[in-house]
Amino acid sequence: MTLPPVSLLALWLATLSQPVLGSLAGSFADGGNTQISAMMMFVGNNEKVYILDKAEGNAAQINGHPAWGAVWDINTHETQVMDVATNVFCASGMHLPNGSFVTFGGNGAIGPGGNIGSVRNPSGASGAWDAVYQDFDGSKSIRVLNPCTSGDDFNSDQCKWFDDPATLSMQKQRWYSAAEMLGDGTIVIIGGFVNGGYINRNTPNNDPTFSGGAAEPTYEFFPSNGQPAQQMAFMTKTSGLNAYAHTYFDGLGTGFRASQLFDHALGPTAKPRKRAP
Ligand SMILES: *[C@@H]1O[C@H](CO)[C@@H](O)[C@H](O)[C@H]1NC(C)=O
Repeated sequence: MTLPPVSLLALWLATLSQPVLGSLAGSFADGGNTQISAMMMFVGNNEKVYILDKAEGNAAQINGHPAWGAVWDINTHETQVMDVATNVFCASGMHLPNGSFVTFGGNGAIGPGGNIGSVRNPSGASGAWDAVYQDFDGSKSIRVLNPCTSGDDFNSDQCKWFDDPATLSMQKQRWYSAAEMLGDGTIVIIGGFVNGGYINRNTPNNDPTFSGGAAEPTYEFFPSNGQPAQQMAFMTKTSGLNAYAHTYFDGLGTGFRASQLFDHALGPTAKPRKRAP
């Protein structure tokens, strides 16, 4: 960043001495209480903002356990807590073309103090459920939310989070995965780690693809096309620091860019595609 000349800086600082009202465009105002921390937040429609937290000991309760989901109303500034079955901590998320929002993966079940949930997965290394927080393992979760408006019944299934790994889940456990929209409305879910608490930064990095089973170097699609999760060489190449791979849709059709090109049909590819005029 280049600093402006001192005189310009002084002029700019002088303009700041005018009173700033929260109601002014470009300024901040108190919007009420979100009840939970906004670990993840998205605009659902022109009335509602949805908020997701990790499973933790929040004061706000829902169905007899701490809440980690909420919906905030843009007009009334009121917040309603929502039930979410699985632990969203370290999930990724993306909008769908039909207006729904979907989040992928997260953490195992945890309980008070951030400890592993009271019921463990068969491996013993992570939680399947916790008796106090009542969160289920979210590491394979696909959570779908169809945004509702004030005229809808938020107690109806249509307005609730659909979060049931037994019915709908990813093939792989993913913690810090990336989720990117492709040109046909499909989402590609990329990489991540198998369990929470791990950082893919082993030294020496003598198993860059799998990190002894801790890394998840694959991609898969939502909605699933039936193809098994495919290994992605980009994850091996970037092993050490490839959490939440930074991707963006390049607008060229079916692909997206990370540091290499990816084509929905071809998979990871170095083949350059023509830019639309
Ligand atoms: C949008 O598509 C997803 C994925 O197919 C589906 O789960 C969801 O229910 C759809 N939303 C609506 C509002 O139909």
